[in-house]
Order: sequence, then structure tokens, then C-alpha cells
Amino acid sequence: MSIDTEHPDGSTDEELTMGIDPWEKNWMRISIALLVVFAAAVTVAGWSAGFQLPGPESEVDPRTITEEGPFAEPGLHEIGDGKFEAYVMSQVWSFTPREIVVPVGAEVDIYVTSSDLQHGFKITDTNVNMQIVPGQVSKLSFTFDDIGEFPYICTEYCGSGHAAMYGTVKVVSEEDFAALNEPADESGDETAEEATEADG
Ligand code: CUA
Repeated sequence: MSIDTEHPDGSTDEELTMGIDPWEKNWMRISIALLVVFAAAVTVAGWSAGFQLPGPESEVDPRTITEEGPFAEPGLHEIGDGKFEAYVMSQVWSFTPREIVVPVGAEVDIYVTSSDLQHGFKITDTNVNMQIVPGQVSKLSFTFDDIGEFPYICTEYCGSGHAAMYGTVKVVSEEDFAALNEPADESGDETAEEATEADG
């Protein structure tokens, strides 16, 4: 607290030093408190809630992307025990592939790029949410701990077919996943993967 000394001419410190209005001081305190809250929220989200900032992972040439490199064969690739990579192409107005099937517990590095416009890629009920810029690869990782269907959608308006840009991550039990990847000796199972790889 400042002591309001009175000067010989009758003026006070407050008058001489352009004092700050108590309300203004309160707003300054609130502003500083908010900054502290925001910084704490980002820290907590980053360290304990697993929030990630999607950054440009690498660059690609959108003109040749469908012919060479991992995006020429988009989809899921196993890279180790329980670890996977998923490559997703976005273009007006669809994602390729439209369905990704993973076993429960799978740790998936998700790489997404675009061959034309700017798109978005968000997987519902996860913290995967990225901006997709042509020429750049966006990457986030996620561990799918729950069996179920997790639709992915385009989150940036990209034209008249924007609302049709979606797909689904299907998280299945390990047994179901193993059965899907077995050689097709059991009859009746149609795998969409083989059908789509006809020719571009
Ligand atoms: Cu792609 Cu909206």
C-alpha cells in the first residue's frame, strides 16, 4: 500500500504521479491472472492430456505424389509390434483410403497430405486435428485404446463437396484384425483393399 503523503502545497503523491485507478489496477490483475491460466492450461494439456501441435513433417511434390513415395499406396502399414503408419491422401472431395482398420491398442503415426487444395483432417473423439496443406505432410500420432468407429472428416471448407469428405477409423479386436489380414482361405470375406488397387 502506498502512503499518501501531503506536500507543502497541499497536493498529494496520488495527484503528482498520475495514480492508477483502482478499477484499472483490477483489470490489470485479471489480465495477468488470465495469462497465467492460459499458460497453465497449455502446459497441462501438453504434458498430461497428450495434446500435440501438428507441424509440417516433410514436404512432397503434389504433382508426383500419387506415383511415388508412401502416398502412392495410401493406407495402413505395420512398422513394428503394435505400431503402425497410416498414409492418407486428401483430394477434392474424398480421403484415400476411406476406411482404416486397426487393432485395439495400435499406436498409429498418421501422415496426411493433399494433392490439390487445403483441407482439414480431424478424427472424431480423438485429439487428432490437423490442417492439410498441399505440398506438406502433416503428422500426428494416436493410440487407439477403444474398440469402435471413429469417423474422420475434413474440417476446412474446400468447396461444394466439402461435407462429403469423410472416412472412418475402425478399431477392432486383435482377433478380428488378425482374421482380416489372414490369407483369404475362409470363404465369403471380401476385402475392399484388393478391389480399390485396380489401376488409377
Ligand atoms: Cu476438404 Cu473440406
